[in-house]
Amino acid sequence: MKVNIASLVTAFTLGTSTVLGAATTTTTKKRGSITPITVKGNAFFQGDDRFYIRGVDYQPGGSSKLADPIADADGCKRDIQKFKDLGLNTVRVYSVDNSQDHDECMNALADAGIYLVLDVNTPKYAINRADPQKSYNDVYLQYIFATVEMFAKYDNTLAFFSGNEVINDGPSSKAAPYVKAVTRDLRSYLRSRDLRHVPVGYSAADIDTNRLEMAQYMNCGTDDERSDFFAFNDYSWCDPSSFQISGWDQKVKNFTGYGLPLFLSEYGCNTNTRKFEEVSSLYSTDMTGVYSGGLVYEYSQESSKYGLVEINGDNVKELPDYDALKTAFSKTSNPKGDGDYNSTGGADACPTKNAPNWDVDSDFLPAMPAPAKKYLTAGAGQGKGFSGGGSMDAGTESTTTATAGSGAVATGTSSTSSSTSKSAASGLQPPRLAMTPIAVGFVTVLSTVLGASLILL
Ligand SMILES: *[C@@H]1O[C@H](CO)[C@@H](O)[C@H](O)[C@H]1NC(C)=O
Ligand SMILES: *[C@@H]1O[C@H](CO)[C@@H](O)[C@H](O)[C@H]1NC(C)=O
Repeated sequence: MKVNIASLVTAFTLGTSTVLGAATTTTTKKRGSITPITVKGNAFFQGDDRFYIRGVDYQPGGSSKLADPIADADGCKRDIQKFKDLGLNTVRVYSVDNSQDHDECMNALADAGIYLVLDVNTPKYAINRADPQKSYNDVYLQYIFATVEMFAKYDNTLAFFSGNEVINDGPSSKAAPYVKAVTRDLRSYLRSRDLRHVPVGYSAADIDTNRLEMAQYMNCGTDDERSDFFAFNDYSWCDPSSFQISGWDQKVKNFTGYGLPLFLSEYGCNTNTRKFEEVSSLYSTDMTGVYSGGLVYEYSQESSKYGLVEINGDNVKELPDYDALKTAFSKTSNPKGDGDYNSTGGADACPTKNAPNWDVDSDFLPAMPAPAKKYLTAGAGQGKGFSGGGSMDAGTESTTTATAGSGAVATGTSSTSSSTSKSAASGLQPPRLAMTPIAVGFVTVLSTVLGASLILL
């Protein structure tokens, strides 16, 4: 640390408290230095300050032309100018290629004060809602562990999504134990590998059928099985609207007392001209006691027509929605103080079975597939990337039911963690659905990664 003579003299004259202040002004800011986000009660914090997500969903090319925007340093830097202009502090990316380097973009984002919410899945490496038992296997876990290992090292990785819209109606809630098991495994991996405890949670589809049950389910049971936050997609506020007309007041009511941070992983209904009037509600005390902001769908114009900008090579054209969102953000500040968050937090009771809307037989989870346990101690190693062979029909599936606490930190040999499983006969009924046509399965897989409602439109 270099301190010049002039500032030292001033510091000595004014007293010791000034010494630190003077010193920091002469120290160069570390490249990409940014305060990691933490969870307290039902809110996110940046140091001692409440943190609200002001973000957009960011996947230029969408699902049809899958590309990793964080591996594209030039594209990333081009778009950071727009992110700053919009007043964003977060972007969400649906898929990254874990065989690529991400340093340059992640550091540039950190320099701009922007965090990343990252989905760990890709179209080829994901839980298949049509066959969750088979797709929850060691090849899949190796991929997502490698992704997490790679991104936990960046201080501006805000959160990991363990899954996106895997459950998109009542019957597919049968896949919920697998989504929860994946969440448990990712948290266990971070702790066992001594990585930063980046918050891990699930992004739910915009469905009324079982939104609340899924939120409760992801926050019930032992601590190792509970998520760090919950998020859902919400397109119910269509301008012109209001807090009451949109029904957002009812959702605040229903989620009051929920013990985890909650945010919108996609919002921005485009039925009518978008003015993003919901922004002023989302960051007001009408909602901030329960919600921590959200992510607008989406940055780039794709076939579903939700874009804020149109990208053509180096050229980024601002569309009308861009100005609308920029205006909405610029006239909406965060509430003063802590925004009435609930500092208690805590677990929910598991929801009771209510088929077909909530079709989960028991609170038991599948144990981690045996061959994946070694990754907890030895590390996942090299990621297979977008060109990997995929995991849905690969590897070894889970054959046992986990006991409570199985997701705790694994140390030493893998036999330590395998001793915490017991026979499947005592609990979980593997939720297998009858044969699904391949075409449906393919749509399922893509939509699991990139947003069901939008792809199927
Ligand atoms: C709120 O909860 C009630 C009771 O469970 C339910 O009927 C209603 O649909 C929920 N409202 C919203 C907007 O989720
Ligand atoms: C705060 O959270 C706790 C635990 O989830 C809950 O029991 C309590 O009702 C909440 N308080 C308010 C004011 O929402």
